[in-house]
Amino acid sequence: MGNRAAIILAAGQGTRMRSSMPKVLHQVGGRAMVDWSVALARSVGCDKIIVVCSPAGQAVQDHISETLGSDAIAIQDPPLGTGHAVLAAKAALAGFEGDLVVLYGDTPLIPTEAVEALFHELDAGASVGVLGFDAADPGAYGRLVVDDKNNLEAIVEAKEASPAELSIRFCNSGVMAASAGTMFGLLGQVTNENAKGEYYLTDIVGLARAAGQRCRAVACAEADVLGVNSRVELAQAELAFQTKRRHAFLQSGVTMTAPDTVFFSYDTEIENDVILEPGVVFAPGVHVRTGARVRALSHLEGAHVAENCEKGPYVRLSPGTVMERGVKVGNFVEVKKTRMGIGAKANHLSYLGDGDVGPGANIGAGTIFCNYDGFLKYQTTIGEGAFIGSNSALVAPVTIGAGAYVGSGSVITKDVEPNALAVGRGRQMQKPGWATTFRDKMAEIKAARKKG
Ligand code: UD1
Ligand code: CA
Repeated sequence: MGNRAAIILAAGQGTRMRSSMPKVLHQVGGRAMVDWSVALARSVGCDKIIVVCSPAGQAVQDHISETLGSDAIAIQDPPLGTGHAVLAAKAALAGFEGDLVVLYGDTPLIPTEAVEALFHELDAGASVGVLGFDAADPGAYGRLVVDDKNNLEAIVEAKEASPAELSIRFCNSGVMAASAGTMFGLLGQVTNENAKGEYYLTDIVGLARAAGQRCRAVACAEADVLGVNSRVELAQAELAFQTKRRHAFLQSGVTMTAPDTVFFSYDTEIENDVILEPGVVFAPGVHVRTGARVRALSHLEGAHVAENCEKGPYVRLSPGTVMERGVKVGNFVEVKKTRMGIGAKANHLSYLGDGDVGPGANIGAGTIFCNYDGFLKYQTTIGEGAFIGSNSALVAPVTIGAGAYVGSGSVITKDVEPNALAVGRGRQMQKPGWATTFRDKMAEIKAARKKG
């Protein structure tokens, strides 16, 4: 693998999204589209990545500053076409002499192998490599003019194409690779004398051919190069991502009774022999180990679920949750930033936030970790084997010792020592016969009123 860099084009307006947020920040599989392109660039070994932004796209620039650093931003002003956009990254790549790949910030699902294949074409002597696909509806795509061995003669934009060229179904995805020298050298010769008055990146193929250089097209599936211009296409990209992930998890040994109802994120990790019931949603940052079962209608985010745990139905796991082996969490329980030790249980209607629950502890129905005073968050610690009676409020910071019992309905504000019983509620009293006396008296009063 040689020295590689990527240029990600993200200076377009994206007006068809009808959004106050720039298009490339919209998410697919829980990750901004531009970050998919960054991840793709990294996966093929690009250690330098430049994102071409519009001066108006402040949110994109802020995002890239945070994730890649401000050196990764190139500004294109005004946008004069894809060729012009790539040239906008030239200064940021000064001194770079390796191979370049151009990606779009709105095309999130391209497989790593497709870009690898383009770099291989360069290694095998091609000047320019282009990723193409057979379009169901070629419409406005650039057409790839190739021979029967995918040697590429030219890319003809739809607006410039003859009727014969328009009948070509093999189209340009926009992904293109060349050495930095070739790319910027050829782009220096591109003009804007065409139907759109733009500097077309695609013109470099014809220019390379005119100079006697070899250009190659590599084919991939249309679904892999789905570009997003509208919310409809965003939903299509999401569906394509989910479909692919569901299939991959089924193949790797995850059971799903209704896979179409289970939703994953880009980084969801699930081991084999996990059972996912219908309606489970994985937000980013979840890892589920083998033998676990996630029951219906549960939402998991930023959570680690160890072997043989049982979750749900109706469970909410929020970021910072760690479930050790065999933990059971049931109906309407929310767990946030809490570790639950081996075999601990919270089976019904609870909120466990900012806690540490020891192994084998049992959290009764309706228990609340009162972790927030409106300003700061505080920790609740529950020792090994402790038993928290139903409907208890544990006011953090508080520690319940190992093996201790908390009586049902308690409000616990002070630490409880190991193996003690703590009860924090009004003491029960009893008045024998009171109800009988009360009823008789009330019946009398009511009868008197009716008469009078
Ligand atoms: C481009 C290709 C076309 C290909 C199609 C695939 C050219 C001339 N045409 O057409 O062959 O089939 O993509 O979708 O390259 N951008 C900038 N600055 C600009 C112009 C565009 O950053 O000045 C970015 C856009 O944000 C977008 C990408 O480049 O991410 C493609 O631009 P777009 O205008 O959508 O190109 P198409 O006309 O669709
Ligand atoms: Ca486009």
